[in-house]
Amino acid sequence: MSPILQVRNLVTRFDTVDGIVHAVNGVSFDLEEGETLAIVGESGCGKTVTVLSLLRLIPEPPGRIESGEAMLYEGAARRDLLKLSEPEMRHIRGGRIGFIFQDPMTSLNPVLTIGEQIAESLVEHLGMDRDQACEHTIKLLARVGIPDPEKRYSNYPHQFSGGMRQRAMIAIAIACTPEILIADEPTTALDVTVQAQIVDLVKHLRTELGMAVIWITHDLGVVAGLADWVQVMYGGMVVERAFVDYLYERPQHPYTIGLLGALPGLDRKGTRRLVSIEGTPPELMRPPSHCQFAPRCSYAFDRCWQEIPPLLPVGVRHEVACFFNVEKGRPW
Ligand SMILES: Nc1ncnc2c1ncn2[C@@H]1O[C@H](COP(=O)(O)OP(=O)(O)O)[C@@H](O)[C@H]1O
Ligand SMILES: [Mg+2]
Repeated sequence: MSPILQVRNLVTRFDTVDGIVHAVNGVSFDLEEGETLAIVGESGCGKTVTVLSLLRLIPEPPGRIESGEAMLYEGAARRDLLKLSEPEMRHIRGGRIGFIFQDPMTSLNPVLTIGEQIAESLVEHLGMDRDQACEHTIKLLARVGIPDPEKRYSNYPHQFSGGMRQRAMIAIAIACTPEILIADEPTTALDVTVQAQIVDLVKHLRTELGMAVIWITHDLGVVAGLADWVQVMYGGMVVERAFVDYLYERPQHPYTIGLLGALPGLDRKGTRRLVSIEGTPPELMRPPSHCQFAPRCSYAFDRCWQEIPPLLPVGVRHEVACFFNVEKGRPW
């Protein structure tokens, strides 16, 4: 497999009247061609800011990408997304990288028909003429499972249900057969049945188009049948990353264990497990110089209050940022 995206030491901050928000604090990860990476973590841990930084969609000011690299590969050649000009980025967004966000209503233009919005992207990125773009848009609508696509082409966003709007957003995102699809909590606003349909649609398109996918969610339950890799974020940092099966079978970080404990499911005694992690996510305004999870962690010992644990390999395809070996019940 070859890399498609390599992110190194991404740091993004927001200068606010109350102080500096340390939203993303040195995030690194690799994405291989055709692979799916899930980024999980509670709300406010820097998932969205991470991907918005890569897409260069952070509002600046107050936002600021302070440092880092985000290499997008094209064969052996690579370009740093963080250094590209805005016209170059416009070409990449919706071209090589498609994206869908939580609320399609804010991303869709209410005064243009669904069909016009998709066709517009085809004219801009692929240089199609109007007729070609219209014809191709109808095919795309059918491909994302919108019934009666010829008729639906002329509908406005408000005439679509939430699930249909998200399908339309997916049509826009895949219109130019991107190599990477970034999906930021695309199913959070939808009811459970529709959520499952959208997940299935993305799985199907991913295979068909050979896309790599970055799927952001606060819900580990969605991830199991979808991701190859799971990356858990806490306080703007990656605290655990593992091949998906390893993460479920042998979670290492107490935070991940907490997230898995919070999964709605039945334990051996047949009772519902709904343990949640006590306490609240960290204050990103004044990040501590020790493990950010220590205040909520039942395993924390003196070292956890003195240093920030680095993300280190603990096995094949498994990294964790924690000084305590939960399996052995003692420090590493
Ligand atoms: N425009 C902004 N101005 C100030 N702070 C922001 C802005 N956008 C995001 N943040 C802060 O960055 C942190 C990370 O947010 P975000 O990436 O959206 O979290 P997640 O997607 O994991 O829920 C949060 O503390 C959030 O308040
Ligand atoms: Mg978010």
